[in-house]
Order: sequence, then C-alpha cells, then structure tokens
Amino acid sequence: MATADVQSGTETAMMEAVVLQQYGGAEKLKLTSIPRPKITADQILIRVHAASVNPIDWKLRKGMLKWFMPDQLPAVLGFDVAGEVAQVGYSAKQQGWNEGDRVMAFSDRTVGGCYAEFVAVNAKYVVPKPQGFSFEEAAGIPLAATTAWKSLVKLGQLRSGDEVLINGASGGVGTFAVQIAKALGAHVMAVCSEANHELVRGLGADELIDYHATNFTRIGREFDIVFDAVSSSSFLECRRLLKPNGHYVATLPSVENVGFSVFSKFQKQSCHIVLARPDHDILKALASLANEGKLRTIVDSVYPLTDVIAAHQKSETGHVVGKVILNVVPDASYQESDQD
Ligand SMILES: NC(=O)c1ccc[n+]([C@@H]2O[C@H](COP(=O)([O-])OP(=O)(O)OC[C@H]3O[C@@H](n4cnc5c(N)ncnc54)[C@H](OP(=O)(O)O)[C@@H]3O)[C@@H](O)[C@H]2O)c1
Repeated sequence: MATADVQSGTETAMMEAVVLQQYGGAEKLKLTSIPRPKITADQILIRVHAASVNPIDWKLRKGMLKWFMPDQLPAVLGFDVAGEVAQVGYSAKQQGWNEGDRVMAFSDRTVGGCYAEFVAVNAKYVVPKPQGFSFEEAAGIPLAATTAWKSLVKLGQLRSGDEVLINGASGGVGTFAVQIAKALGAHVMAVCSEANHELVRGLGADELIDYHATNFTRIGREFDIVFDAVSSSSFLECRRLLKPNGHYVATLPSVENVGFSVFSKFQKQSCHIVLARPDHDILKALASLANEGKLRTIVDSVYPLTDVIAAHQKSETGHVVGKVILNVVPDASYQESDQD
C-alpha cells in the first residue's frame, strides 16, 4: 500500500496511517497518507502487521489526557505492534537486529504511532515475536501485559505461594494478570462476570467471583496482593482484604487512591497506582513466558485498520474479553510455511 510522493525532485516514502486531527468521537480517526517515519541510529522501523487497541487510545482521542500530549495533534495512536523489521538503525544493527525479523514492540513514542503501516521504535522496546503466536496475538501483549507484570511483580512484589485477588480478570490487563500470577506460583482469586468464569478458569484462576452477585471487597478473606485492573474499588475499601504487609495496586489514579499511595508509604499495607511504560526487561520476561506456553492472548475481536472506528467503539463499551486487535496486514496473506 505504501506509495512514493515526488516532491521537488526528491521522493518521500509515504504510508497509510490512522490520523487523529482533532479530539472527539471515534469518527475523528481518519485513514490518511502521511510520510513514513525516518529512523535514528537506535531505532527499528517495523512494518506493522497488527496493532492493538487499549483504553488509553480512546481516552487520548477524546482529549481526556491532554496533559499527556499537549500540542501533539495531528497524532497517530497505538502503543502495541507486531510485525516485521523493515529497516534497522546503525546502533540497533550492532544488537543483532536484521531486516525481516518478526517482532513485537511497545512503542516509546508519545502517543504510540502504531495505527499505521510503519512505526519507528527504539530497539530497546522490541523483542522477537513469541514462537507460535500470530501477529495479531503478539500485538495484544505489550501494553496490557506490561501493566499486569509491573503491578504484580514490581509493585506487588509477587512471590510464589502468594494469595492474589485480581478484579477485572476478563479484560485486556486482567487476562494477562491471571496468567502471570499463576505462572509465578500464586493462588489466584479472579473477579469477573459469570459468563467469563470458564475462560478465566482456563487461564489458571483457582477461585472465581461474579462481581454482579458479590462485592469482592466484603468477602472476608486476606490476600498478599489485591490488583484492581479496572479500578472499581479504593484502597480504603480493600484494606480489609490485605494481609498485614499486603499490596493494593490500581490502574487508574482516583484522587482517593493517589492520596493513599502517598500516605501508605509510611505504612505496612501499601497502595500503588501503576503507570505502564515500555520496559525492556518486562517485555523480555513476557516473551519468555509466551515462548514457554505460560502466556497467551485472548483475542476479543479483530478489525481491519480501515474499521478502526468500530474497533474504538468496541473498546469503549468496557466489556471486551481480552484484546481488541487492528489488522494491518492479514496473517492469512502469508504462506503457511512463513508462520512460526
Ligand atoms: N495506569 C496504566 O498504566 C494503565 C495501563 C493499562 C490499562 N489501564 C487502565 O486499566 C483499565 C483496564 O484496562 P483493560 O485494558 O483491561 O480494559 P478492558 O479490556 O476494556 O476491560 C474490560 C473488562 O473489564 C471488565 N469489567 C468492567 N467493569 C468491571 C467491574 N466493575 N468489575 C469487574 N470487571 C469489570 C469487563 O467485564 P464485563 O464485560 O463482565 O463487565 C471486561 O471484560 C482501563 O481503565 C485502562 O485505561 C491503565
């Protein structure tokens, strides 16, 4: 699809990308032809096969996080990508990357840039695509699974044998959180709608609660970690669920939880708000788990890039199961023998 645009005798490589020109509804996302990104020495240009939609994308689109991207419009959204290496910067080449390598990456650009045919990403945040994963499945991993890993392992200090409660276990972050906690030897109680219990049990959950029927903050049990992946609770409500040195981790910064995250620094029971950022070590750990068969992506739905509006609308319902994926180059267009 990429075309060349001849401007005053010099050719500019162009690409198709979904561009956000103005904040607003999903209809503000427009498929447009723009120049292909140019890479620096430490970057890799990835030919995007698949990207994923995270709730932060539509929050950015609506202008809910303007402080995060002041004066950044027009912008190309999307932090998650899986694809093939198209070009390698000089320093990245020294690290062993080659054109044609199949990779997944967590984009370190301000608002991502992955809803496009090509994206330039710092080589630190690129890892080989896990064996046996389609590009669509791999694209679901970076941001959501990094959030889950950082919440449980870095902030929650997860150890084998810990008892962990995960609220929002059926979502993008939650489905990875259940699997990571199990892979690291925890006992997992998962909170999600009854309709998703079978799926989440299949991911490894030991016990399940239907949030429509039971208020998990009142179950009278104690955990080493309470990870609220959808942030429907507060530290104050969950304190009674924590063991004396337990950790509460939320994904959204409510005023109350931000206050407690400061206050609890002086207490044994801690409150944290996770902030997912591209992290080389976490991405490598996630790829290892995936290669060992301990992490898989639950794909809620796949949309072609041309249907990005419908993909955003789906994510905004707040009721997806696993990940919403954008397909840029369909996996089916590759020879069977090309698949891992
Ligand atoms: N701070 C960070 O760095 C960071 C990183 C990633 C995500 N986040 C935030 O974390 C939140 C979750 O992200 P996500 O990607 O997992 O979202 P998601 O995939 O859209 O989550 C949807 C899931 O949440 C479940 N859910 C909704 N309300 C629930 C409730 N009250 N109790 C239990 N489950 C509920 C839904 O199940 P039902 O259909 O059964 O309701 C659905 O399966 C978002 O707000 C996102 O912006 C923050």
